Amino acid sequence: MLRLTSALVLFQAILCSSFAQFQSLGHAQSFNTTPSHLQIPVVQSTKHGKTEAGYIFVNPLNRTAGTVTPCIFTDDGRLIWYSSSLSFGPLRPQTYQNKTVLTTWIGAVFSQGLGWGFVSVLDDTYTVIHNVTLEDQSFQTFNHTPYQSYMDFHESQVTDDGSILVTALNITPADMSSVGGPNAGFVIDSLFYEIDIATNKVLFSWSGLNHTSQIPMNNSMLPLTSTISGNGSSFEQPWGYFHMNSVAKYGSNYLISSRMLCTLFLIGPDGNVIWRLSGIGGGDFRLGMNTHFCYQHDARILHQDSKKFTITLHDNGDTEYDNNTVSRALVLDLDMTTKLVTVNRSLRNPHNPIFAVSQGSYQTLLNGHVLTGHGAFPVIEEFDAQGNITMTFQFGSTYETSTYRAYKSPWHPNPAAPPVAVAYTGHGTDVYMSWNGATDVESWNVYAGSNVASLAKATSIPNGGFETSVNLAKQFGMVQVEAVRSNGSTMRSIVVKVTSPP
Ligand SMILES: *[C@@H]1O[C@H](CO)[C@@H](O)[C@H](O)[C@H]1NC(C)=O
Ligand SMILES: *[C@@H]1O[C@H](CO)[C@@H](O)[C@H](O)[C@H]1NC(C)=O
Ligand SMILES: *[C@@H]1O[C@H](CO)[C@@H](O)[C@H](O)[C@H]1NC(C)=O
Ligand SMILES: *[C@@H]1O[C@H](CO)[C@@H](O)[C@H](O)[C@H]1NC(C)=O
Ligand SMILES: *[C@@H]1O[C@H](CO)[C@@H](O)[C@H](O)[C@H]1NC(C)=O
Ligand SMILES: *[C@@H]1O[C@H](CO)[C@@H](O)[C@H](O)[C@H]1NC(C)=O
Ligand SMILES: *[C@@H]1O[C@H](CO)[C@@H](O)[C@H](O)[C@H]1NC(C)=O
Ligand SMILES: *[C@@H]1O[C@H](CO)[C@@H](O)[C@H](O)[C@H]1NC(C)=O
Ligand SMILES: *[C@@H]1O[C@H](CO)[C@@H](O)[C@H](O)[C@H]1NC(C)=O
Ligand SMILES: *[C@@H]1O[C@H](CO)[C@@H](O)[C@H](O)[C@H]1NC(C)=O
Repeated sequence: MLRLTSALVLFQAILCSSFAQFQSLGHAQSFNTTPSHLQIPVVQSTKHGKTEAGYIFVNPLNRTAGTVTPCIFTDDGRLIWYSSSLSFGPLRPQTYQNKTVLTTWIGAVFSQGLGWGFVSVLDDTYTVIHNVTLEDQSFQTFNHTPYQSYMDFHESQVTDDGSILVTALNITPADMSSVGGPNAGFVIDSLFYEIDIATNKVLFSWSGLNHTSQIPMNNSMLPLTSTISGNGSSFEQPWGYFHMNSVAKYGSNYLISSRMLCTLFLIGPDGNVIWRLSGIGGGDFRLGMNTHFCYQHDARILHQDSKKFTITLHDNGDTEYDNNTVSRALVLDLDMTTKLVTVNRSLRNPHNPIFAVSQGSYQTLLNGHVLTGHGAFPVIEEFDAQGNITMTFQFGSTYETSTYRAYKSPWHPNPAAPPVAVAYTGHGTDVYMSWNGATDVESWNVYAGSNVASLAKATSIPNGGFETSVNLAKQFGMVQVEAVRSNGSTMRSIVVKVTSPP
């Protein structure tokens, strides 16, 4: 279902810069109770101070394997949950109908970071409760391939009204003469949709190409000669001049981020631009000291009143054609009277600067803390209210592992699927057990016997991480495990046969 081959070529090509100070964690974790093909990255989490409570939600891409394995970790780096369904974009805990759900995107990914697919919404039992789709058949995709749904992976923001904001992409003929391209050229139109989750009904739509009078193509920073985009000469080589990577709704307005225009736009309910903030020229604002940004991701409004907007974003100005810009979590104040932009916060680790060439995220946590994911660079950082780094969370290895965004959130799951046990003959019986997705397993009861009828409790052991193991001195034929949660409730695995080790 997911095609990552061309995406791999892209991410491989755009990875450069010096990563010297982070050591490589170049391998996947393996367990006896998980499928062997999974690529769950090794994690090294270093705490430098008090962190906010919560689990880490990531969609790590392994470029070598060509797989993305959705994962939840504790912020100390212990695996809590993995999914074998391939995914991409943000794996994100969000509030839907007053409950915490997980959203993740599933579909086909192509070079330039393009995708066509749908968003799955999972409840706290990890059961898919909605597949939100966009089924308009007028979309043009690479190879003219039709899909069941045409959402792009860059955004999946759930609103308080039970709708979701998603981006979409459409290869469209366009006159590119204003940028020195062909007048019968092809561009990738960037669109966004607001869709009702329960019914899939489109509530609002917006297209960049419908607004070229306000947002001309020649504002794009993407050269026609870039290796990360086509030059517009043919349908197979469309020019991705806009590249929308975030959308959020505030009242009836939408804040969108265009990576290639290095600009944020506030869009009104009639689709018109209310204001623009360009990280290179200012747009409708004047850029104060140290406020320049480019190729940014994950723009949100933290605060707004009649006098001031406060905006948060991940500023990753490093690209193949504009190198050596340190990535930072950036907060900007926009004075609506003087139109001056000033830095509210600029967060980076001065001892270990990160140069992320793509992707990234900014999440406002409680008590002034901030979580920032560095996208193509496999490190997530948490900062405290003073701007001191409190956590460095590295997963996998540079050049190989990445996550489009990263989130931290409390999470109280109640997995529908039971614990899993495997047991091997050895010196006695080796039993391995895990409960994918559970956060509150305290201990395990292990039952063993020569057959189902003779199963009896063999031992009780404390939970030992994602996977717990125990050696039983005797040789048994059948084993069953039982997870004991912190509130005392229990859940049993199926009874499994003891087999020879693989
Ligand atoms: C990535 O995948 C390769 C090939 O399957 C594997 O050897 C490697 O250990 C994986 N690395 C990580 C960090 O998952
Ligand atoms: C969510 O909670 C609010 C406030 O408690 C309530 O008014 C609203 O009806 C709830 N919405 C749903 C979908 O349950
Ligand atoms: C969502 O889509 C997946 C993949 O196509 C499918 O397996 C699952 O049954 C769907 N779930 C719902 C609730 O539509
Ligand atoms: C773009 O404009 C056309 C013509 O007004 C309209 O039919 C179409 O729905 C618009 N596209 C989007 C995505 O809103
Ligand atoms: C961009 O194109 C518009 C017309 O579409 C033109 O008014 C403007 O001068 C051009 N800007 C640049 C920098 O070339
Ligand atoms: C545009 O790209 C195509 C494919 O790489 C190439 O064949 C063509 O020469 C390019 N056109 C121009 C004007 O550079
Ligand atoms: C950026 O770095 C890449 C890889 O090191 C190099 O090929 C490219 O020329 C550099 N670009 C600029 C504008 O310095
Ligand atoms: C940053 O923005 C917040 C929200 O608008 C505001 O309360 C705070 O005073 C600002 N801090 C600085 C240093 O400007
Ligand atoms: C935390 O930040 C403050 C203000 O920038 C600084 O004075 C202090 O030394 C920092 N503390 C640590 C432990 O780095
Ligand atoms: C323990 O917690 C789980 C998950 O929240 C819940 O389903 C179960 O009913 C609770 N059991 C008891 C005995 O409170």
